[in-house]
Amino acid sequence: LTDIRDLYRGRGEFAGKEVTIGGWIRSIRDSKTFGFIVVNDGTFFEPLQIVYSDKLNNFEQISKLNVGSAIIVRGNIVETPDAKQPFELQAEEIEVEGLSTADYPLQKKRHSFEYLRTVSHLRPRTNTFQAVFRVRSLIAYAIHTFFMERGFVYVHTPLITGSDCEGAGEMFQVTTMDLKDIPKNEDGSIDFSKDFFGKATNLTVSGQLNVESYAFAFKNVYTFGPTFRAENSNTTRHAAEFWMIEPEIAFADLKDDMILAESMLKHVIRYVLENAREEMNFFNQFVDKGLIERLTHVLNSDFGHVTYTEAVKILEQHNDEFEYKVFWGCDLQTEHERFLTEQEFKRPVFVTDYPKEIKAFYMKLNEDGKTVAAMDCLVPGIGEIIGGSQREDKLELLEQRMEELELNKEDYDFYLDLRKYGSARHAGFGLGFERCVMYLTGMGNIRDVVPFPRTVKNCDL
Ligand code: 4AD
Ligand code: MG
Repeated sequence: LTDIRDLYRGRGEFAGKEVTIGGWIRSIRDSKTFGFIVVNDGTFFEPLQIVYSDKLNNFEQISKLNVGSAIIVRGNIVETPDAKQPFELQAEEIEVEGLSTADYPLQKKRHSFEYLRTVSHLRPRTNTFQAVFRVRSLIAYAIHTFFMERGFVYVHTPLITGSDCEGAGEMFQVTTMDLKDIPKNEDGSIDFSKDFFGKATNLTVSGQLNVESYAFAFKNVYTFGPTFRAENSNTTRHAAEFWMIEPEIAFADLKDDMILAESMLKHVIRYVLENAREEMNFFNQFVDKGLIERLTHVLNSDFGHVTYTEAVKILEQHNDEFEYKVFWGCDLQTEHERFLTEQEFKRPVFVTDYPKEIKAFYMKLNEDGKTVAAMDCLVPGIGEIIGGSQREDKLELLEQRMEELELNKEDYDFYLDLRKYGSARHAGFGLGFERCVMYLTGMGNIRDVVPFPRTVKNCDL
């Protein structure tokens, strides 16, 4: 079978030639002696129009086919310079590969994204989701090539862990114990000693702690895999299962970290604009007008930089516009992040040097003793897309911080070892992959950029 992609890419060279394609019917209409079928085979964003006539011995059967049916068509490519599509296929033979019943949930009309979420096994057959999931795939590829071209080693960090990287306690516990007879210790806590791992374990919230140890072996590394958070946040930007890209670089500080993050995001934007033209034009026209212009502008400008303390000063002047009032020490909410990036800077911006109280234990303490060498990258339309930091590389300071936060040091033995055996300046960040896909496609809900989303009260398909 010829891919529809090849017909488009190899334009002209197929004119007048015979080809056979296989695909699914998007729409079908017929009159007495001929008909039109629009077919998509998934290899290209644009569909192919098939023209057929009562010359076919199964003309009656074909005319009755439902949308969604799978067919194989042999015929000749005819150029149609005046039509919407540059060519069509005049069918010599149409074979039915698989019928679709009349209750097929995707009819030709436009369906709402809410409705399509209820059929997430079928929605990749629609225009929007063909575009979303091809772009998602291309972004993953672009991220790998970005790091590979720079000599980074891709590390597969574990999904089951015994620690809580972010210290936020938002973990899904992993156990093989039967819930109805979970053994308890004398103090009432759960006794995991007879469980599979002999201790409490959870799905990872971040691969950072593990990938840091590889940075002290390979210098430049990254992990790219699923992470899990039991955050009870029912928003358009939070999922319980999402993918994260986490590079970690040794002999590097926060500045190097931000340079890396900015060039990675620009690389991915450039790659997608060049390699997903049809999809990006579709988003630009139907999902987020001005998207391409905005992304092109990002490519041609530098990201903004502002410290947390400066950002708070800016935001305090607009406190009457916010639901949550800003003060030094508060965690920035999405409304504040969006104000900074959309109103104040009008481009992506790094906010740096947050108060230590609102950031994780592993971040390097600044000289002021109050703030840490942290950076969040905020982008218009979303807010935080990246969270990163320079790491505390001094054993005493790290231990002190863990004591302050009452973390159980035994769970982090290996992490503390790294500060004992050849510690070095190092930094890294986490890019939320889904938020990156949202940013590049203009899609407004994280549920619409994950093939099978898992969010609060939703693990359906
Ligand atoms: O800011 P976070 O929590 O940082 C870390 O996990 C660090 N350990 C990363 C590192 O330095 N290696 O998360 C990083 C990014 C966020 O900026 C956000 O884009 C995304 O992960 N993220 C989520 N995306 C979707 N759903 C959620 N529930 C998310 N939580 C975080
Ligand atoms: Mg964060």
